[in-house]
Amino acid sequence: MAQLPILQFEEKIIETVEKNQVVVIIGETGSGKSTQLSQMLHRRGYTKSGIIGVTQPRRVAAVSVARRVAEELGVQLGEEVGYAIRFEDRTSERTRIKYLTDGVLLRESLSDPELGQYSVIILDEAHERSLNTDILMGLMKRLIRMRSSNLKVLITSATLDGDKVSKFFFDCPLLTVPGKLYPVEILYSNERPKSYLESCLKTAIDIHTKEPEGDVLIFMTGQDDIEKLVSKLEEKVYNLEEGSCMDAVVLPLHGSLPPELQVRVFSRPPPNCRRFIAATNIAETSLTVDGVVYVIDSGYVKQRQYNPSTGMYSLDVVQISKVQANQRAGRAGRTRPGKCYRLYTSMDYQEDLLDVTVPEIQRSSLAGSVLYLKSLDLPDIDILRFDFLDPPTSESLEDALKQLYLIDAIDENGSITKIGQTMAELPLEPSLSRTLIEANEYGCISHALTVAAMLSAETTLLPGRRKNADKKRKHRPVDPPDGSGWGDHIQLLQIFELWDQENYDVNWCKDRDLQVRGMLFVKDVRKQLCQIMQKIAKGSLDVWTSRNQKESRAEYWNLRKALCVGYANQLAERMIHHNGYRTLSFKPQVVQVHPSSVMKPDEDGKFADYVVYHELITTSRPFMRNVCAVQVEWVMPILNKVKNLNVNKLSGGSADLTSEPMEGNVKDSLKKEDGGTTPTLDGHDNKIQAARERFLARKGKK
Ligand code: CDP
Ligand code: MG
Repeated sequence: MAQLPILQFEEKIIETVEKNQVVVIIGETGSGKSTQLSQMLHRRGYTKSGIIGVTQPRRVAAVSVARRVAEELGVQLGEEVGYAIRFEDRTSERTRIKYLTDGVLLRESLSDPELGQYSVIILDEAHERSLNTDILMGLMKRLIRMRSSNLKVLITSATLDGDKVSKFFFDCPLLTVPGKLYPVEILYSNERPKSYLESCLKTAIDIHTKEPEGDVLIFMTGQDDIEKLVSKLEEKVYNLEEGSCMDAVVLPLHGSLPPELQVRVFSRPPPNCRRFIAATNIAETSLTVDGVVYVIDSGYVKQRQYNPSTGMYSLDVVQISKVQANQRAGRAGRTRPGKCYRLYTSMDYQEDLLDVTVPEIQRSSLAGSVLYLKSLDLPDIDILRFDFLDPPTSESLEDALKQLYLIDAIDENGSITKIGQTMAELPLEPSLSRTLIEANEYGCISHALTVAAMLSAETTLLPGRRKNADKKRKHRPVDPPDGSGWGDHIQLLQIFELWDQENYDVNWCKDRDLQVRGMLFVKDVRKQLCQIMQKIAKGSLDVWTSRNQKESRAEYWNLRKALCVGYANQLAERMIHHNGYRTLSFKPQVVQVHPSSVMKPDEDGKFADYVVYHELITTSRPFMRNVCAVQVEWVMPILNKVKNLNVNKLSGGSADLTSEPMEGNVKDSLKKEDGGTTPTLDGHDNKIQAARERFLARKGKK
């Protein structure tokens, strides 16, 4: 293997780290930041006094990079080198280099705010601007003061505006590792294709038949279109005249791919064989595939966004930003000059693409993060004055506070409650952690754990909800239970209980077309949640197994009641003269039960009067996904609470929400640091602001 660019800078990097507490390192994707920095610091003794922790915004990246580093050091994964992602900890006493998702590090800081076991923390892939990394950056700023003698913080990024981060960390040094990037020829389409899938296929075959050897990386938007592309491309390649061109293999690469299939992308291809890799934006910066000479860029990415005024998620296929387009193109020039085929016009690129990607903090629900920050109980941290690299909107902070108040996590003055403290200890979204706590009161914790685990599966378990449920099956699968008319949560519970009664037989899952890997994951998650609950409840739980639970309507009653408390902010009322529901805790809007739901109208064609839902998602229309029928008498106290809500008080009183206080605060703190000069918004800030405005305008038009 040729030497990675970053290794040539080892002396410089070590010297800078030795002299400074925070260092920003910018280097091209593939230059060795994720795999080499930790090893470098390890070689120089930084693991003697503690662990080197490297955060990754993506689970897949944490696993894959840890595996690679373990391999390079010749150690067993989970020993000296390990990883920790939500619900999966592969570290041991001996672990010195630990890759972990940013979410896991945040959680660790809850039990140990000083993160005492770490000697070095590397916030990797900071350019992804994930919500958790952004929050960690704010926390690090505080932590470096507290541990000024024994903690080093490195922030690494491929494209991030380094000056801005350096400024954020009191003008810390910024090292740039020049990437050895070969020229990449950019080829634009003459017009925007009607179907980017077809256009991808055509371009791929053109490359294969006309261009010299070299792998092809194709950027698609998600698992669905990747699977389609893979099967169509395989067919086309197979039908090419034998001997007319070299062999080819087509590989998918996305976050829900089983690990054993992910590994294939990193192993050596057979000789005289071209690889086509159809990937999501995971291959943009977090994973580097060697051997790529051609890139096909669809120009799109799938992005989950949250609208705080409606509480609605949408999973949109949106245009990438210019920064992303350039990252994608860059993948073609790592080993020699390459080509990037953009399936859009140069006019599209110039005029349509946003300059930079909108940071996640400005398009997600913040309830979990706000709860977390409140639970840190640090006198010097006020959520509204928290130091963010880019502040979230006041609207989304208000939305978060409101939700937390409705589920009793904070009181009317915005202070965290005991319930809130307990909730923060659970690695679940606030609605589910609240449900668990309530369920424990009602004696149905076992059921609630199952539901929470089922909803935490990273993949879709049920065949009806998978787009590509195995169509090749000869036998029709056995129908799953129906939720007894109470909806999807109860159905999820029933499925798990039946499986439990079958001793977790995988064939039972197969007969029902349930995703086996997902179900096994659920079982493991349930066990972990159970252990955490046990700790919280100081051993007063007896929930190791759900076996021998009688399924009966009465048993579901309490669970539904607990769900109603947990989902207090996700409540909807059936409209009498309309076919649909009206949401109650957000600005009222008309929503429908998602067609995949087991919740069906009764014989009179009537739906339940009140339901809670797991999420609102807009596809063609606004839908509630995963709904559970609740009783009107449980709903009334919530509605009263909604009526008496005073968001200004919740925010902690004095702060004026409408004037975006955090931004003022960032400036204030900087002012103190650099002797009185107020920094002006730099170009990057303006760009993000402009991007955000255009993004919102576009959303508004929809
Ligand atoms: O983080 P950065 O993008 O700078 O690079 P990296 O992830 O450290 O990758 C450096 C090199 O390690 C890549 O070019 C790959 O050759 C190799 N690598 C690999 O083969 N398998 C992995 N799972 C990760 C990296
Ligand atoms: Mg990396």
